[in-house]
Amino acid sequence: MTTLRPKAGLDRAGLEQEIATRSWFHTFDLGDGLRTPGYDDTLNKLEILHLPADLTGRTVLDIGSYDGFFAFECEARGAERVMATDRWCWEWPGNDARRNFDWMRDILDSTVEDRLVSVEELTPEAVDGTYDVVLFLGVLYHAPDPLGYLRRVREVTRGTLVVETLVDLLDVDVPAAAYYPGASMNNDASNHWGPNAAAVEGLLRDAGFTDVRRFDPWSSNRTWALHLDGNRPRRLSRRVRERLDSRARSGRMVFHATVA
Ligand SMILES: C[S@@+](CC[C@H](N)C(=O)[O-])C[C@H]1O[C@@H](n2cnc3c(N)ncnc32)[C@H](O)[C@@H]1O
Repeated sequence: MTTLRPKAGLDRAGLEQEIATRSWFHTFDLGDGLRTPGYDDTLNKLEILHLPADLTGRTVLDIGSYDGFFAFECEARGAERVMATDRWCWEWPGNDARRNFDWMRDILDSTVEDRLVSVEELTPEAVDGTYDVVLFLGVLYHAPDPLGYLRRVREVTRGTLVVETLVDLLDVDVPAAAYYPGASMNNDASNHWGPNAAAVEGLLRDAGFTDVRRFDPWSSNRTWALHLDGNRPRRLSRRVRERLDSRARSGRMVFHATVA
């Protein structure tokens, strides 16, 4: 559950109007029925990440933060310092991500820091140190070189890494990854690889992480693909989703890994 709330004194009609002028990736629930109409399933994603409810005293790095929902959520859970990074969508002409992030930081009265840093540029110097908790959500399949990306992520992690990713070939019982040429995955040329769970675990270990833990797949592409209504996925009941997910060969999974 999220408890993000706008600072006192803001006019609700003004907030609604501002939300309506932007396009949103993240679905922020700001309380009292106020939501951003994100096309990402953010609030369900939050539930399956298994983030600690209390992050008091911890430092958090959110790599590929987009509108910043998970960075702000970690701050709300008590993190002492939160750093959000991105480059791709923050520089993308016409994308509202950067302006959404800045506006949210203002209305939430947040002190989340930011750096314009791509995964290719990730070093402890670029993000001002190493972090207790690192979020790498929805980024791994964008990597042309997944092991190289995870090695850089390892360099900035001193505690726990949380990975959320597209997975594929779940019916293959050796480490394997599907390759998506051109824009063949979701009509998006930035999607390159769909590893299966064993491949993600192997990549994490080879990048220097230990104690790798996987959680059950939480949503299948097939589930969404079967139920597209225009461009917006229609929600199915949890029971139907679970039945479809259990038969799917691709989907989304969460992994936790630590550094020794
Ligand atoms: C699907 S969004 C995920 C956003 C957020 N982390 C979440 O899970 O809700 C992918 C993010 O990865 C970033 N990214 C990093 N490297 C990328 C790359 N090579 N290609 C595309 N996006 C990339 C994008 O800018 C974007 O913020």
